[in-house]
Amino acid sequence: MGTGNFKAINYRFCPGASMDKKIEIRNLNKSFGEKKVLQGIDLDVYRSEVLCIIGKSGSGKSVIMKHLVGIIEPDSGEIIVDGVSFTGADEAARESITKKYGILFQGAALFDSMNIYDNVAFGMRRKGVPEDEIARAVPEMLGQVGLKDIEEKKPSELSGGMQKRAGLARSIAIRPEIMIYDEPTTGVDPITGGAVDRLILEMRDTYGITSIVVTHDMNSAYRTADRIAMLHQGKIIFTGTPEEIKQYDNEVVRQFVEGRAHGPISID
Ligand SMILES: Nc1ncnc2c1ncn2[C@@H]1O[C@H](COP(=O)(O)OP(=O)(O)OP(=O)(O)O)[C@@H](O)[C@H]1O
Ligand SMILES: [Mg+2]
Repeated sequence: MGTGNFKAINYRFCPGASMDKKIEIRNLNKSFGEKKVLQGIDLDVYRSEVLCIIGKSGSGKSVIMKHLVGIIEPDSGEIIVDGVSFTGADEAARESITKKYGILFQGAALFDSMNIYDNVAFGMRRKGVPEDEIARAVPEMLGQVGLKDIEEKKPSELSGGMQKRAGLARSIAIRPEIMIYDEPTTGVDPITGGAVDRLILEMRDTYGITSIVVTHDMNSAYRTADRIAMLHQGKIIFTGTPEEIKQYDNEVVRQFVEGRAHGPISID
């Protein structure tokens, strides 16, 4: 994962940026109208770790993810990826950063009209990967997520869990350095959820991928996270290991991890 193809790009190394950190979020603020959604978020994501972000519905988890991939611009604050500031960067620098990301959205987000082969090939074709290389890569990526001989099938012919795996195969086919998973286990049965959790860890261990997992599911967070960050009322109120969050003596955190106050119907 070199930086060889970054020539002619005006990118700015940030003073004080640490190379142990894949992503640094510094004092990120974002409001929509009167509603302050993010109020000074500081969060580091270390290389090749799995960081789970938890928090109630509406707390701003997806808004953070959208900042990371450049879909939303902050009101103030900065996002630094590999020491390079993403915020306010020029087009070319932004593109070199967004290329590092693979995203598994909630729901598998496969294209219904395409078969699985074309779905998995999609990102590679956009990157201009030659067809013979794609033909080798597609079965390999499907194999990586435990799927075989389904290239000709349409997404609608697969179970939800298989669709999720196929979506993951499509994301990893472009060899992302950073994977973003938005609610990967929501709406799938526990067995499939366990398999998705194992895949997240496999992606870390096999490819050294840095992963950010947004989840409501504490069990999934305990199984996958190297560290957990909790978002509440626009701020990060906890970061630490699964062991540390189990011990953490704060009422809001306790309520959430013990499942007393979470779920789609709870509001701030
Ligand atoms: N584009 C937007 N315009 C206006 N408000 C927005 C926009 N995007 C998000 N919001 C608001 O920001 C808040 C946080 O939304 P977000 O989608 O990040 O929540 P979340 O933590 O991901 O919730 P969930 O767990 O339900 O997915 C919500 O109040 C939402 O209505
Ligand atoms: Mg969300």
